[in-house]
Amino acid sequence: MESIPVILDMDTGIDDALAILYALSSKKLRALGITTCFGNGDIENTTRNTLAIVELGLSSVPVYQGASHPLVSPWESTAEAFHGPNGLGGTRIFHPTQKAEPLSALDFLRKSIEDHAHDIVLVATARLTNIASLLLAHTELTSLIKRIVVMGGAAFVPGNVTPVAEANIWGDPEAAWVVFHSGVPITMVGLDVTMQVPISDGMLSSLVPQVPYFDVIREAVDFYLSAYNPGEPRGNRTAPLHDPLAVAVAEDDSLCKTQALPVDIELSGRFTRGMTVVDRRERTTAAPNVDVAVTVDRERFLKQFAQRLQFQQSG
Ligand code: RIB
Ligand code: CA
Repeated sequence: MESIPVILDMDTGIDDALAILYALSSKKLRALGITTCFGNGDIENTTRNTLAIVELGLSSVPVYQGASHPLVSPWESTAEAFHGPNGLGGTRIFHPTQKAEPLSALDFLRKSIEDHAHDIVLVATARLTNIASLLLAHTELTSLIKRIVVMGGAAFVPGNVTPVAEANIWGDPEAAWVVFHSGVPITMVGLDVTMQVPISDGMLSSLVPQVPYFDVIREAVDFYLSAYNPGEPRGNRTAPLHDPLAVAVAEDDSLCKTQALPVDIELSGRFTRGMTVVDRRERTTAAPNVDVAVTVDRERFLKQFAQRLQFQQSG
């Protein structure tokens, strides 16, 4: 089986942590490295969390620290309610033995794209700040990237930070604008599909205790389930597996049906900043720039997710 060279660009985060473990257990994806971005915590937290999860996944994939704030606007932290004060639900994280590499995220991205020209896939599950900065500084790289799978946006469903904006786009709309207008093939794995694939109390309670990430994932996901279901007792809680689905689509795009559509990013609306504006007009003259995931094979993804991370059941 031919492997796909990928770079994961993440703001680790509880669902990013699950996505890392999913990617590390893939036989098809070959993770060249993980670049980090602010988002679910500040950059020190998201980088430390990434290193810790890589170590718990018994991997030595290198980690490169990236952006600490958006391209234009100041960073506003909004993720604490869902990801806790340290980005991993307040879980006590040990000090990872591995450190972030001395090379910057941007230099690593540039070098890897050149070394794996036309084959490399970027999976972005954070604000698009790192990738936008790269493409602004090196426009020549745009033709060398095979595709970018973006967890972000909401095409036909409501947003999750504002009525119309999803967190990763809302958190740096200018960066999203640059990436969506770059000409690189983009698959948008947005809330339309990620809200359809939940982790549940049932699944969490079936995590095999022998896995090295057992304590951290159990505690962090318990926090995540509570955050999505305030006041609900343990038992029937569910919460979306946003970032793992994006990784899964990078590995196997048959998991989602997509529609090629023109998508723009709203930069200035008082109520709509950060919205992914999809042109659905039949007679539009705008050219499609994004493959928007519109449906997902929920059962197949959840089964695969459970097997990969060693949950015994997918209920
Ligand atoms: O809107 C969901 C996204 O925002 C996920 O990537 C999650 O980790 C947060 O960053
Ligand atoms: Ca994320």
